Amino acid sequence: MAKLNRSIVGLSLLLSLLLCDFIIDLEASQQDLNQPYRTGYHFQPPRNWMNDPNGPMIYKGIYHLFYQYNPYGAVWDVRIVWGHSTSADLVNWTPQPPAFNPSQPSDVNGCWSGSVTILPDGKPVILYTGIDQNKSQVQNIAVPVNVSDPYLREWSKPTLNPLLAPNAVNGIDPDRFRDPTTAWLGRDGEWRVIVGSSTDDRRGLAILYKSRDFFNWTQSTKPLHYEDLTGMWECPDFFPVAITGSEGVETSSFGDVKHVLKVSLIETLHDYYTIGTYDREKDVYVPDLGFVQNESAPRLDYGKYYASKTFFDDVKKRRVLWGWVNESSPAKDDIEKGWSGLQSFPRKIWLGESGKELLQWPIEEIETLRGSQVSWHNKVLKAGSTLQVHGVTAAQADVEVSFKVRNLEKADVMKPSWTDPQKICSQEDSSVKSGLGPFGLIVLASNDMEEHTSVYFKIFKSNDTNKNTKYVVLMCTDQSRSSLNDENDKTTFGAFLAIDPSNQAISLRTLIDHSIVENYGGGGKVCITSRVYPKLAIGENTNLFAFNRGTQSVDVLSLSAWSLKSAQINDESMSPFIEYEDSHSLNQF
Ligand SMILES: *[C@@H]1O[C@H](CO)[C@@H](O)[C@H](O)[C@H]1NC(C)=O
Ligand SMILES: *[C@@H]1O[C@H](CO)[C@@H](O)[C@H](O)[C@H]1NC(C)=O
Ligand SMILES: *[C@@H]1O[C@H](CO)[C@@H](O)[C@H](O)[C@H]1NC(C)=O
Ligand SMILES: *[C@@H]1O[C@H](CO)[C@@H](O)[C@H](O)[C@H]1NC(C)=O
Ligand SMILES: *[C@@H]1O[C@H](CO)[C@@H](O)[C@H](O)[C@H]1NC(C)=O
Ligand SMILES: *[C@@H]1O[C@H](CO)[C@@H](O)[C@H](O)[C@H]1NC(C)=O
Repeated sequence: MAKLNRSIVGLSLLLSLLLCDFIIDLEASQQDLNQPYRTGYHFQPPRNWMNDPNGPMIYKGIYHLFYQYNPYGAVWDVRIVWGHSTSADLVNWTPQPPAFNPSQPSDVNGCWSGSVTILPDGKPVILYTGIDQNKSQVQNIAVPVNVSDPYLREWSKPTLNPLLAPNAVNGIDPDRFRDPTTAWLGRDGEWRVIVGSSTDDRRGLAILYKSRDFFNWTQSTKPLHYEDLTGMWECPDFFPVAITGSEGVETSSFGDVKHVLKVSLIETLHDYYTIGTYDREKDVYVPDLGFVQNESAPRLDYGKYYASKTFFDDVKKRRVLWGWVNESSPAKDDIEKGWSGLQSFPRKIWLGESGKELLQWPIEEIETLRGSQVSWHNKVLKAGSTLQVHGVTAAQADVEVSFKVRNLEKADVMKPSWTDPQKICSQEDSSVKSGLGPFGLIVLASNDMEEHTSVYFKIFKSNDTNKNTKYVVLMCTDQSRSSLNDENDKTTFGAFLAIDPSNQAISLRTLIDHSIVENYGGGGKVCITSRVYPKLAIGENTNLFAFNRGTQSVDVLSLSAWSLKSAQINDESMSPFIEYEDSHSLNQF
C-alpha cells in the first residue's frame, strides 16, 4: 500500500512539473468528484487511517496535533505511528512528518495514544503507550530533538524506555494498560499521571503514578479513581475547570477549581465525564454525583465520537477539546476512498453555571472561514411546514438557530418507560408527529428530499411530578434517510437537553461539512456528531431547511447561516507529506 501511494504521488508530482496549471485544476476537480466525503474544514490527513487525537498542545505560538495514524492504508494496522500537523490558528493545518514510529523494543508493535506535558521550563515531553516485543502495553517517553524549533519536527526516544510496565508485583493486565494523560504537579513538587486500565471483573481504573523527575515513576497504592462494572477505561483525561466563567485553567492549577474525569469506555465506545473534587491530600478524585451507569450518563457527545482529549491553550486562556469521529461506512468503502477518520472541529470546553454540566462550543476561529450569510428574524414555522434556507453552500456551512415554543400545554406526556433518549429518538423518528415537535433543521438534503439528515427537538410534559422540571426536551439526530447507500451505519442518536422551554429559547448550532454534521444543543450542553454519506446531496445539489412537523407553531426567533470556506487541511503541496522511506525495519510484519 505504501509503495503504491508513493508511486501515485510521484507520478502526479511529475505531471504537475511537466504540464501547466489547467492539468492541476483538472486533477483538483476530478478529486472532488471522486471524493465527495472529504471535508472542507475538519482535520484529516491527506490519506489513510486516523484514530485518536494525541498530545495536542500550543508551543511557541504554534498549535500541534498528533494523531494515531496508519501510513500504510485506510484501515487500522499494528504499525500505528504518531502522525503530526501544526497550525497557527487551529483551523489551517500543515502536515509534518510523523513524530515517531515503532522503533524500540518497548514500542516495536505500535506507538499508541498518549499526551503532552509542558514542563515548568517550557519544554514539552510526550508520554505514550508502546506495545512491546512481548505484546505488553507499556508507557514510554519521547522528547523533542530541537526545542528551538517551534514545529518540533523531530522527536527522540531515550533508551531507558519503557518508564512504566506491568510486572508480576503490580497485578496490571499487560493488555489493559494504556493512554497516559497530561501529567500534573502536586504541592509536594511531584508529578502525577494516570493510565487507563481495568481488572478481570470489569472494574475500570485510573492507575496513578508519581515521579520527582518525570523518568522514575512509582505506582500509588490507590488508583486516582475506579468504578465497578465499567470495563476498560481508554483515553482518560483529567483536568481542572474554573468554577465561574469560561476561561480554561492550566492542568496543574491550584486555584479554586472543580475537576473533570473523562473516560472512553471500550464496551460502549462512548466518552463519559464526571465533575467532582480532586482531594490533593489523599490523591483521589471524588465525582459529585457518582458515576452514572445508565442511558442518561453524561457524555461529551451523544453521537459518533470517541477517545477525546483536551489541552490548555495558555495564549487564549481556554481549554480545547479534540475527539475522533470514526467513519460510519464499511471498511471496504474506506479502502476505496483511501482514508478513514476525522477529528471533530476543535471545541472550547468549560463548566456550565449550574456546576453540573460541561459546555462546549466551536472555537471562535471558525468565524475566519465564514462567507456569505443569511439571516432570519422572528419567522413562524407553522405546523407541518418546511422552509428552505437559500443563499448558503448547504454542504459546507455553519448554522445558528433559536426556537421558541408557545402552547407548551399542548405537549404530550412523557411515558414513564421512556428513560433512554436514544431509544425514544429511534422509535419516534422525525416523521412521527407529536404535540410539540419534531422541529429543527434538515441538512444535507437532496433536491427531492430522497436523502436528508434531520436534527430536531421534541418537548414533552414530564410524567414525574417529583421532578422540578415540568418539561423534558429531547434532542435527536436522524440519519436513517441520509443516504441511498444502505451499507452505512445509520443509527439514530439522542439526548435529553436540560433546559426549561417555558422561559428559555431552544438553541441549535450545526456545523455541516459534506460527510459530518456536528450539533450543539442549548448553547453547548448537548453535542451530537454524526457521519453521513449522501449519494445525491453532494456539493451544489445539497439543501438546508428549517422544519416543524408538530401540531403547534414554533417561532424561529433568529437563524443565521454562513457558507464556510475550506480551510487548508494538511495540503501536501504546502509541505510535502513525508511518507516512510525507511521501511525496512517494518517489513517484518
Ligand atoms: C519478554 O518476555 C521475556 C520472557 O518472559 C522476558 O525475558 C523479556 O525481558 C520480555 N521483554 C520485554 C521487552 O519485556
Ligand atoms: C533548531 O531549530 C532552530 C529554529 O528552527 C534552527 O534555527 C536551528 O538550526 C535548529 N538546530 C538544529 C541543530 O537543527
Ligand atoms: C525512584 O523513585 C523511588 C521513589 O521515590 C525511589 O525509592 C527510587 O530509589 C528511585 N529510583 C531511582 C533509580 O532513582
Ligand atoms: C467505527 O465505525 C465502524 C463502522 O460503523 C464500527 O464498526 C466501529 O465499531 C466504530 N469504532 C468506534 C471506535 O467507534
Ligand atoms: C440513572 O442513574 C442515576 C444515578 O445513578 C439516577 O439518578 C437516574 O434516575 C437513573 N436514570 C435512569 C433512567 O435509570
Ligand atoms: C404518568 O404515567 C402513568 C402511566 O402511564 C399514568 O398513569 C399517569 O397518569 C401519568 N402521570 C401524569 C402526571 O401524566
